[in-house]
Amino acid sequence: MRGIALLGRIRFLDTTLRDGEQTPGVSLGTDEKLAIARGLDALGVQVIEAGSAMTSVGERQSIKAVSAAGLNAEICSYVRALTADVDTALDCDVDSVHLVVPVSDLHIECKLKMDRKSVIRKAVEITEYAKDHGLIVELSGEDASRADQDYLASLYLAGIDAGADRLAFCDTVGVLVPEVATEVFGRLSRLGAPISVHCHNDFGMATANTIAALRAGAAMAHVTVNGIGERAGNTSLEEVVMTLESLYKIDTGIKCQDIYQLSRLVSRMTGLPLGINKAIVGENAFTHEAGIHVHGLMADTKTYEPIHPETVGRKRRIVLGKHAGKASVELALREFGIGVSDAQLSQIVTRVKELGDKGKRVSDADLQTIADTVLSIQKEPKVKLQELTVVAGNTVTPTASVKIQLNGTDRLEAGVGVGPVDAAINAIRRAISGVADVRLEEYHVDAITGGTNALVEVWVTMAMADRKITARGADADIIIASVEAVLEGINRLMRLEEEDRLNVK
Ligand code: KIV
Ligand code: ZN
Repeated sequence: MRGIALLGRIRFLDTTLRDGEQTPGVSLGTDEKLAIARGLDALGVQVIEAGSAMTSVGERQSIKAVSAAGLNAEICSYVRALTADVDTALDCDVDSVHLVVPVSDLHIECKLKMDRKSVIRKAVEITEYAKDHGLIVELSGEDASRADQDYLASLYLAGIDAGADRLAFCDTVGVLVPEVATEVFGRLSRLGAPISVHCHNDFGMATANTIAALRAGAAMAHVTVNGIGERAGNTSLEEVVMTLESLYKIDTGIKCQDIYQLSRLVSRMTGLPLGINKAIVGENAFTHEAGIHVHGLMADTKTYEPIHPETVGRKRRIVLGKHAGKASVELALREFGIGVSDAQLSQIVTRVKELGDKGKRVSDADLQTIADTVLSIQKEPKVKLQELTVVAGNTVTPTASVKIQLNGTDRLEAGVGVGPVDAAINAIRRAISGVADVRLEEYHVDAITGGTNALVEVWVTMAMADRKITARGADADIIIASVEAVLEGINRLMRLEEEDRLNVK
């Protein structure tokens, strides 16, 4: 922990919008770049590499928009050692440039057809040019891990003399190993300017190498959200932040509880799904099934979770199947705020196992339905649908009228919406208003069978106060399936609220 403790706060340069966007098939528009940049800024990242200004007109538009967004973070553009590149970056009003020069002989000779001396000359010339134009300069060595390290040091020293504010060491093809990172950064961090570490994950070591570099004296980590980037990707922001916070007990200044939300945003906007077992943000990172683990979790969640899911803005998920035991079912029910007696628990476990034996993974909604059935056998629904009429077409505003029975009293209401389903749900919400204030948070439809007469399954997430539940409806008519799901959700929320009230008394 020596280097980290000595250097104080570690800084982050996030390159999701530049190196992350270089992931094959990814192209972010201005609105998307702005939304991600705002998320990074809110998270507390110090430098945002918003793109490379010379790429295209659209890219310049996006970088300008990020620069103009009034963020706290320093906004940076990637540039090559060309005055034209620096000029385009200046046009975008950035604060800094990530000035990249190749430093391995392989890159200098094969790619650039230059020689070592002229690369240093160019690096110095463009550093001075950028500094003369008021920019912060981070002078970066591309393919530094395969470069002659004495040559690299001389290039960095020449850059510092020319006014470079920071240096960066790029492990461009991910061939660094932690022991070498420790040795290299121990030396380079004494050259006279703060140095950043930029790693790729070709051998799955980007996070380990980044941590080793930081421990040896690197001042800043280059990262991307979800570790996206070319080939196997870049160092992942969430992995480095949580390693520092949880394993090295270092306050990074990053708002860890917002990590998951930003991860989802980046995944959605880039169209890049997350690996199910991706550390910190993958679907399974806080999901448990095996009965024995769940038993331990119930005693103390630390038994099988290195950090609390809430630390990164997530929730624990208990997946039930045929391996489910009493402990896992009870913990899953507890997550939904459902308390059961021993006898009720046994009945629920039996039904879960029956489904598991049929090869079915028991979803949250399935479990809640089973629990409802076991807990409220004989219980009448509080809200019952009596009549539903929907009018829709291309020349009318979709309108629905419903007659429901609420706690034994008839209520008639109408609602309009963007479509017939929306109109029906609005009519129901109006009919129960004053008695139950429910919100529809998510709505999802699956066709179970094919064809126009397909059976559709509707899943809704409904909330009342701070309780959320999932409910399901299935019918050949999508409006009926939706209404069924919504009513099931309302009934369940009302019942849980009633149980809470009775328990408090
Ligand atoms: O990995 C790398 O070498 C880079 C540079 C171009 C900065 O991303
Ligand atoms: Zn890179």
